[in-house]
Amino acid sequence: GLPSAITVYEVGPRDGLQNEAEPVPTAVKAELVRRLLAAGLPVVEATSFVHPRWVPQLADAGELLDTLAGDLGDAARDLPVLVPNERGLDRALERGCRHVAVFGSATETFAQRNLNRSWDQQFAMFAPVVERALAAGADVRAYVSMCFGDPWEGDVDPDRVVETGQRLLAMGATQLSLGDTIGVGTAGQVGDLVRRFVAAGTPVDRLALHFHDTYGQALANVLAGLLAGVTTYDASAGGLGGCPYAESATGNLATEDLLWFCRGLGIDTGVDLDAVVAASAWLADARGRPSPSAVVRALTG
Ligand code: HMG
Ligand code: MG
Repeated sequence: GLPSAITVYEVGPRDGLQNEAEPVPTAVKAELVRRLLAAGLPVVEATSFVHPRWVPQLADAGELLDTLAGDLGDAARDLPVLVPNERGLDRALERGCRHVAVFGSATETFAQRNLNRSWDQQFAMFAPVVERALAAGADVRAYVSMCFGDPWEGDVDPDRVVETGQRLLAMGATQLSLGDTIGVGTAGQVGDLVRRFVAAGTPVDRLALHFHDTYGQALANVLAGLLAGVTTYDASAGGLGGCPYAESATGNLATEDLLWFCRGLGIDTGVDLDAVVAASAWLADARGRPSPSAVVRALTG
């Protein structure tokens, strides 16, 4: 059967905005985070401590967290942030972050393009990050990108995905988010991959699913994940998003689409759909661009 409740892991301020060419002012980012928290989203990933030349849009990560600390106080330290390496971790720990995420790749080409490391070298980069984060009392999410397809390599061997994920968990990562970075995966593959992880000994409650909606398959993929027992789903308010280093990546699954879907199925999220729609509409106005989410368009039309 289906679970009675899920956790929606909001990635809009990070995955949603990282791909935007037009600079978004820090104050707008901070207001977006505040509105998403006020809508009841239990987790809002705020930004990335990556190299500012690699992702210029998020070069203000430190300033953003300082701004949010001014508004939210200690609660700002609960907002997860991406950290690829020790330099990123240092920047996050300076701000007292209690939740960090490393982001690995299942494929060789994307490891090189996104991290400037080989598939094998990425683990050497992450190991001290995970170890030091845990020692500092933070927990560590680990993303695995290109779980269902890669724009350069095509089909991805699911055994390679499981191996990537298991190595990250063995380092001490607390949660694994399986990413369909370019949105090519379909429901059969999702169920199959989750079952492979479980067969390899990964408790299903350690898994999260991260869908991009390029081919319009994201909600069908969520259903496959629910049926396989996964209860944490990444989504981006208004369906913003994409990865600047992944050719053909488009927006993430829209948070509003996920919430509408869950409402219909009687699955509790604790999130106020109307408030998320209002936040997305506000951001669309601030940026002068409509949201790509079907639900946002329907509810604001
Ligand atoms: P590199 O050039 O190999 O870095 O980049 P390096 O270790 O050789 O260091 C070079 C210089 O950069 C040094 O400075 C470092 O201090 C500095 P120098 O000594 O020359 O003056 N540096 C930094 N500065 C600030 N913050 C840092 C940092 N690191 C090094 N963290 C690196 C390697 C990993 C840093 C680079 O490749 C990078 O930043 N990549 C990030 C790419 C990215 O953010 N992609 C998007 C996120 S992933 C995603 O969206 C997928 C996901 O959503 C899931 C899915 O959909 O699948 C998560
Ligand atoms: Mg992503």
